[in-house]
Amino acid sequence: MLKICNVRKSFNGVNVLDSVSLDIGSSSIVGLAGASGGGKSTLLRCIQGLEVPDSGTIDYDCRIGFVFQDFQLFPHMTVLQNLVYAPALKAGIDKKQCIAKAQAILEDLGIGEKAAEYPRILSGGQKQRVALARSLMIDPDVLLCDEPTSGLDVATTEDVAALLERVNRLGVTIVIASHDLDFLAQISDRIVLLNRGKIVIEINPKDHSDAVEHLKSHYG
Ligand SMILES: Nc1ncnc2c1ncn2[C@@H]1O[C@H](COP(=O)(O)OP(=O)(O)OP(=O)(O)O)[C@@H](O)[C@H]1O
Ligand SMILES: [Mg+2]
Repeated sequence: MLKICNVRKSFNGVNVLDSVSLDIGSSSIVGLAGASGGGKSTLLRCIQGLEVPDSGTIDYDCRIGFVFQDFQLFPHMTVLQNLVYAPALKAGIDKKQCIAKAQAILEDLGIGEKAAEYPRILSGGQKQRVALARSLMIDPDVLLCDEPTSGLDVATTEDVAALLERVNRLGVTIVIASHDLDFLAQISDRIVLLNRGKIVIEINPKDHSDAVEHLKSHYG
């Protein structure tokens, strides 16, 4: 579904991604772990086409959505407008249908009553839900999530884990970059550890009772 082959990317002469290859199958949840600066966000940005690799290929035959770490909600638009804005720019779109779809997704994610609010009044967890809802408007096959739990408390992190698992069960493949190894071990089918731009280990957390310790021992 998504095939990354020998991707290299450097900034100012420093290798940030160094021959990264990764095959992501449909309906999986893949965790991207690694120390800060290891290249997690850069890899997600390359997949999404926000950065262009220096060499290597990224092939896919599906729709890809992105949930940014800092949400990137439009502050001057209501929650509903945030969801509808981009899809409604498409020619021939039925705006009423688009609004109904947005409202249904918000309801489904438990924030239907926030549709008319502006992002500034929302809590971090609610903003995360809105960002997730917005990315679901394009019916993605793959969802890239950059640090979806950063800044969230334990209970809200649990909520995000449950939401992402629910989205995954609907058939969406999810790739999550995160520092939170417990969170990744809880929800991922595979965890790939990026260390200075290289994949140094890949594990299935369900096969390792000590997955988190195992990963930590490979941090550089
Ligand atoms: N557009 C850019 N221009 C220059 N350097 C960049 C750019 N984007 C990323 N970098 C550098 O690439 C390296 C990897 O950054 P990246 O954001 O991918 O790491 P990360 O693993 O996501 O880190 P974190 O866990 O802190 O989010 C860092 O040293 C960063 O400064
Ligand atoms: Mg990052």
